[in-house]
Amino acid sequence: MSRTLRFNIFRYNPQILGAVPEMQRFDLNETKSMTVFIALNRLREEQDPSLKFDFCCRAGICGACAMVINGRPQLACHTKTMDLPDQITLLPLPFFKCLGDLSVDTGVWFQDMNRKIESWVHTDKSFDPEAPEERMCNAEAEAIYELDRCIECGCCVAACGTARMRKDFLGAVALNRIARFIIDPRDERSEQDYFDIIGTDNGIFGCMGLLACEDVCPKHLPLQDQLGYLRRKMGFHAVKKFFGK
Ligand code: SF4
Ligand code: SF4
Ligand code: FES
Repeated sequence: MSRTLRFNIFRYNPQILGAVPEMQRFDLNETKSMTVFIALNRLREEQDPSLKFDFCCRAGICGACAMVINGRPQLACHTKTMDLPDQITLLPLPFFKCLGDLSVDTGVWFQDMNRKIESWVHTDKSFDPEAPEERMCNAEAEAIYELDRCIECGCCVAACGTARMRKDFLGAVALNRIARFIIDPRDERSEQDYFDIIGTDNGIFGCMGLLACEDVCPKHLPLQDQLGYLRRKMGFHAVKKFFGK
C-alpha cells in the first residue's frame, strides 16, 4: 500500500509588504519512483498553483532545484521520497536571497563569485582561430574535467558554517574552481596571483575544514582534496613570502 506523505513546506512571498514566512502542510499519496521534484509538481498542479520552486533539467544537471530536504541541502530531482520518512520538511537554501517559497536566487551570488575569482583562463597568447587545437595530455584533461563537473547548485555554500558567519566567504565551490585553473596548463597566473584571490580569511584560510560541503555535494566532487591542496599550497606560499623567497 502506498504511503501518504506529509509535506511541511516553507511559504513566503517577499513581494507582499509585511508578509510573514510560515510553514504550510500538504498531504500527498506516494507513487512509485517519486522524487521530491515530482511531488512538488503534483502539489502545485493539484493543490496550490502559487507554490514556488525552481527546476530546469529534472536530471541533476542544472542545479536549480537545490533546497533543504529534511535538514540537508540536496537536489529535489535527485531525491527519492522512498528514501525519506513520511514527514518531509522543505526549506529554501539558506544564505541565498529567497525569491518566494523554495525559490532562491543563486545566480547573482555565482556571478559575483566568478567575477571575484576571475573564473576564466588567463593567458597572454592571442587567439588564432586558424590554429589547430592545442593538445593536452589525457591525465591533465581528466583532472580538469573532474573539477569542472560542478553544477553551481549552491548546496555546498548553504551547508557551510563559514559562509554563514562571513558573508564574503568564497566557499568550496570557488576554491574548487581555483584548483581547476591551477592545474590547467593554459592558465598563466602565478602562485601570487592565486594567493591574492584566496590567501585570506574569505578564501582558503577561513575554511574550517569540517567538510559539510563535500558531504552534501550532489556531484560528489572531491572538495576535501582540493581544500587540503589549496591550504598547503597557499600556506607554503605565505611562508616563502615571509622569508623573502
Ligand atoms: S570545509 Fe570549508 S568550505 Fe567546506 S563547509 Fe567547511 S568551512 Fe565551508
Ligand atoms: S561544488 Fe558541488 S555542491 Fe557546490 S555548487 Fe558545485 S555541485 Fe553544487
Ligand atoms: S532540476 Fe536540474 S538539477 Fe534538479
